[in-house]
Amino acid sequence: PFPLYRQMRDTNAVYKDTNHSWNVFRYEDVKQVLNDHNTFSSQVSFEERSILSMDPPRHQKYRSMASQLFTPKMAMGMAPRISAVVKELISALRGQEETDLVRSLSIPLPLYVLTDWLGVPPEDRLPFQRWSELEVKYNSYTGGMDAYENESETLQDELCSYFQWMIDNRRRQPKDDLVSALLSVKADTGGFTDGELVDFCFLLIIGGIETTAHLLTNTVLTLDEHPAVLQRLRNDPDAVSKVIDEVLRYRSPVQSTFRIVLHDVEIGGHLIDRGEPINVWLGAANRDERIFENAETFDIDRKNNPKHLAFSSGIHHCLGVHLAKLEVKIAITELLTQISQFERIRVKELVPIHSTVLLGLESLPINYKFVE
Ligand code: HEM
Repeated sequence: PFPLYRQMRDTNAVYKDTNHSWNVFRYEDVKQVLNDHNTFSSQVSFEERSILSMDPPRHQKYRSMASQLFTPKMAMGMAPRISAVVKELISALRGQEETDLVRSLSIPLPLYVLTDWLGVPPEDRLPFQRWSELEVKYNSYTGGMDAYENESETLQDELCSYFQWMIDNRRRQPKDDLVSALLSVKADTGGFTDGELVDFCFLLIIGGIETTAHLLTNTVLTLDEHPAVLQRLRNDPDAVSKVIDEVLRYRSPVQSTFRIVLHDVEIGGHLIDRGEPINVWLGAANRDERIFENAETFDIDRKNNPKHLAFSSGIHHCLGVHLAKLEVKIAITELLTQISQFERIRVKELVPIHSTVLLGLESLPINYKFVE
């Protein structure tokens, strides 16, 4: 999408498309929209059930509950578990020389970590895994939705019933897991129904797996394209955080989000009427050369740049930032340690997903060699 984004930033920065949706592409315009929730609503319909699509004051109620649980400290507490999962998944690659990294690492890593954290035991993971793989496939599928929609909806119902069962179970018998923690936070703030908690758990699955999977895949892909950066990472493993942050800017897993205008407003000289929808192109803002010098270049030494918008900005800023970055950091570090010639991780064939929201790959077949 990147050449198109550039063209739009230069010639049609605020643009009404044939579906009567507005689109914003420049960094400053995107930021204006994200940071002004009084003008730009996330609530697409009245019956929104996910925190992502709520406006204040309802949003605030969820957010204050959730932000107690999604702290950097919480993410650090997950590190040993993440490492164990990464080691297990990478060890399973021994004895072969090629794999599809999306299936063998990118999806299972966030899936195992998140389900573990929620309190789902390994033997109950399968429907979660199937659902996540379907989502990636569904985003890749250009021939219409029916093939995946039915199965995905059935699974979705199954997963929500499972969360309801967990909530009942943990209410009687709390454990050291996220579902129990959500129930005890609930006791402090009051007012969450079981249905609301089920919706929140499900949103974590929607928002936390495929996104993180694409970040990991996009990082491997980008390193494969930039051998000098890979070499630098070998000599200076601490540079991994800079690499991941630059991948977030350069190949943002979430390329766009959506808002509705609540009252007439001007963006970049265009008057936008109340009620009109806007596609907010995070991926285009992150490559805006008005803000990022040599924006189309992957450069881990960027300085004095404002923050990229890969995790959004304003009140909906992603809650999973610390967890997602930590998972990818541990995975990349372990790949570099265990696989002697990461250079010989050869990406064979790219299968991009066809989505305007997510940027990633359906599969990433690679060849590799382990350290003996
Ligand atoms: C919100 C991106 C991982 C949970 C968001 C938004 C973005 C985003 C762009 C805001 C959208 C908007 O403003 O309309 C990402 C990316 C990830 C990632 C790129 C991985 C690289 C995660 C993970 C979790 C998570 C691992 C949970 C475990 C959430 C939640 C929200 C959110 C709960 C809603 C926050 C709110 O509405 O207040 N994410 N996310 N995300 N994300 Fe993430």
